[in-house]
Amino acid sequence: MAIMIWNQSYSVGVQELDEQHKSLIRMINEMHYAMNNDKGQEAISSIVEQMFDYMELHFTTEEGYMQQYGYLGLQAHQRQHEEFRVKARDLRERVNAGEFVLSFEIVQFLSDWLQSHIMVTDKKYTSLFAEKGLS
Ligand SMILES: [Fe+2]
Ligand SMILES: [Fe+2]
Repeated sequence: MAIMIWNQSYSVGVQELDEQHKSLIRMINEMHYAMNNDKGQEAISSIVEQMFDYMELHFTTEEGYMQQYGYLGLQAHQRQHEEFRVKARDLRERVNAGEFVLSFEIVQFLSDWLQSHIMVTDKKYTSLFAEKGLS
């Protein structure tokens, strides 16, 4: 069973960003599946790497639009992305060192973080982007 499912209430009104959020949700579900089905360390490492790389791409995309349209909440938003990056770096290092087994708590943390980040923080830029005609 999926740990997280995208629905219209997650929409930030910009198709490219919605698609990226959907991909991130899909990757979290893949991690959840790998964990539940005792996939090996290598499979888990590769999903974790893929997810964090994609998260980086997504942050860069969002921050680029925020900069381009002069979003006033840019710095606070970037701080949240940065906090996530610090956490992700630590997880990634531990996974790569082979000392880390993907746990339900980690998958739950990622899915909770993403859900609240989209619903609270990302949603704040929707009105500005809509005003600027980004869709
Ligand atoms: Fe986002
Ligand atoms: Fe964001």
